[in-house]
Amino acid sequence: MTQTFSSTGHDTFVGTPRSRIDGPAKVTGLAKYAGEFSAPDLLHGYVVSGIVAKGRIRSIDTSAAEAVPGVVKVLTHENRPRTAWLNYNYQDQVAPPGAPFRALYDDKIHYSGQPVALVVAESFDTARHAATLVRVDYEAEAPTVDLTKVGDLAYDPPMKRNGIKPPPKPWGDADAAFDTAAVKVREQYTLATEHHNPMEPHASTVIVEEDGTYTVYDKIQGVSNSQGYLANVFGLSKDAVRVMNPYLGGGFGSGLRPQYQLFLAMLAARDLGRSVRVALTRDQMWTFSFRPEAIQTISLGADKDGTLQALRHDALAPTSQFEDYQEVVVNWSGILYKCDNVALTYKLAKLDTFTPADMRAPGAVTGVFAIETAMDELAHATGQDPIQLRLKNYTERDQTQEDKPFGSKALKSCFEQGAERFGWSKRNPEPRSMREGRELVGWGMATGVWESMMMQTSAHAILTADGRLEVGNTTGDIGTGTYTILTQIAADTLGLPMEAVTTKLGDTRLPEAPIAGGSWTAASSGTAVMKACRDVGEQIFRLARQMDNSPLANVDFERVAFADGHIEVAGDASRRVALVDVMRAAGVEKLEAVGQAAPDKDFNSQYEAYTHSAIFAEVKIDEELGQVRLTRVVSAIAAGKILNPKTARSQILGGVVMGIGAALEEESMMDTTLGRFMNHNLGEYHVPVNADIHDIEVIFVDEEDRANPLGVKGLGEIGIVGTAAAVANAVFHATGKRVRHLPITVDKII
Ligand code: MOS
Repeated sequence: MTQTFSSTGHDTFVGTPRSRIDGPAKVTGLAKYAGEFSAPDLLHGYVVSGIVAKGRIRSIDTSAAEAVPGVVKVLTHENRPRTAWLNYNYQDQVAPPGAPFRALYDDKIHYSGQPVALVVAESFDTARHAATLVRVDYEAEAPTVDLTKVGDLAYDPPMKRNGIKPPPKPWGDADAAFDTAAVKVREQYTLATEHHNPMEPHASTVIVEEDGTYTVYDKIQGVSNSQGYLANVFGLSKDAVRVMNPYLGGGFGSGLRPQYQLFLAMLAARDLGRSVRVALTRDQMWTFSFRPEAIQTISLGADKDGTLQALRHDALAPTSQFEDYQEVVVNWSGILYKCDNVALTYKLAKLDTFTPADMRAPGAVTGVFAIETAMDELAHATGQDPIQLRLKNYTERDQTQEDKPFGSKALKSCFEQGAERFGWSKRNPEPRSMREGRELVGWGMATGVWESMMMQTSAHAILTADGRLEVGNTTGDIGTGTYTILTQIAADTLGLPMEAVTTKLGDTRLPEAPIAGGSWTAASSGTAVMKACRDVGEQIFRLARQMDNSPLANVDFERVAFADGHIEVAGDASRRVALVDVMRAAGVEKLEAVGQAAPDKDFNSQYEAYTHSAIFAEVKIDEELGQVRLTRVVSAIAAGKILNPKTARSQILGGVVMGIGAALEEESMMDTTLGRFMNHNLGEYHVPVNADIHDIEVIFVDEEDRANPLGVKGLGEIGIVGTAAAVANAVFHATGKRVRHLPITVDKII
């Protein structure tokens, strides 16, 4: 039985392809972003980014900058208001253990690119020009930024990061089983540091209201996080800080945590008593969040037939000097494959950089690249088809979590349907065996996996006498289609047309919801919206029964349905009454309710919840030039119920494209002497462009899940996971050359 939202049992909107309702506003420029809101007498802050990675500021001379007409003030650690950081220990919603970065706190330099001054001026251009006149004298020390040279500095995180599962205890004896295994694969895999680079760079606009409160527009994936941060850091009551962010020009995780431009804008606004905007430049997008590189070793021991006997996955990843950033990197190997002897380890090393951050499927992109490339190596070593090898070691249980079964796992359908669509059966398994003209052709595949999560979330529903419904909460639509799916759910639950529903997001005056991340938003906000609408439906039902000659007299709520703006006896549309007539008869202007969603403790005590995918990639490689064209991708996804096949497909397309970026292009290169990312612009940091992207086909396989009332498992991240391994495996199939270090650039192929 497929879950429906409508009490008629037939959803009108959920499950059907719908264009984004925020699409027209975005493509016509009507949608305003955090750096576009204005206020009378708005001031502009320009950040001066430091140029050494470690040491201290000996002196800072702001006189020339301050002499520029139009400059109001230059804030530094020496003159900043002392009121800030009242509650420095506040941890934002996704902060790792440690002490969050404090801009302009003191003379200490923690990383290259650290903000060392904020020039505040009447115009952005004045501030930018004056920023070039700020003279900083540094006492520089040699930074530690080379992960390959950290040696004994690697450590086990002393405190686990909230929400991040640490590696499980080992089971069996992986090392002994590896030693005696008939077939062995032991290799090192690395991937480069990546920066998120959403289209919209980070910006915050802090507007000082006449009553002394603040209205803040912040680039953030959930305004509740910025509000909590500002209230705690500046010692303000939450009522005094309204944070909004109706639209986001992409986040990918870079907007999960409040960033330093938010702090600086509020600092300046409070100091000067005027509204201030701080917008970062594209270059400055390299001065905070990034996906950390990692050095991983996978050891696979197997029988001659490929049955796993031993599995080790050891990872070393960097963090900053001030926080123990952690993600789930190695657990995926134990989640994907059944094996009796498993050891999974994850160590950190502190570097003189900013703290790494979640970037789309954090940790899974990293770890699954390694295990899925290693599995391809094992398939080759045992002379087996890569899908057959995966089926041989398939698991219905999560051995990393006390062997709990998966609530649902339609991965086998992904293999079948993906292989069928791709034409996998026509693959000649021999490397270098397929070619077209001067190009070698390679076909590779890999598995993807991501956790399916749910968060404590509230949402409201307000039905007004004009027949319109408003739903909403504080979460953000990060470009994923949240406005649209919540509108679909609300419309179906109360039997209204989508046009009658207004969904509001990204405003701290709405009911509280967490940041949009982790692929949990559809399940969490969707459930909360559905519950709020159901509650309103019950209220209207009670009013309808009280009407004179009510067509619903003596009918239980379980037997009513909502359709076409009416409440009716299910299956008998002749016994119905319009919602607006019910409200008019009762003399009520509006009916409202707040719905709550939370993780299902019973379900979670019995089952583990993950989404899965099978990715198939075709590459064509110029044999002499080593140039890779990624000509075809098929991604088959098992993610529970699909609310909107159109926005869902877009999520997978975007994930696959980012996976192609990770596989072939994206790399922030560190100058290990200066401790600075060298290619801090989109000219030198390559992301896939249209010419790099060819045919991508997305398949959603049927999967029923009960982790939440919607049956939804989340889609924002699964599309990227495993994609790089599928590409790397295709490159091996084409060339016979195994590249274990992402990105796979020409120099690694020829
Ligand atoms: Mo996602 S990396 O949780 O925005």
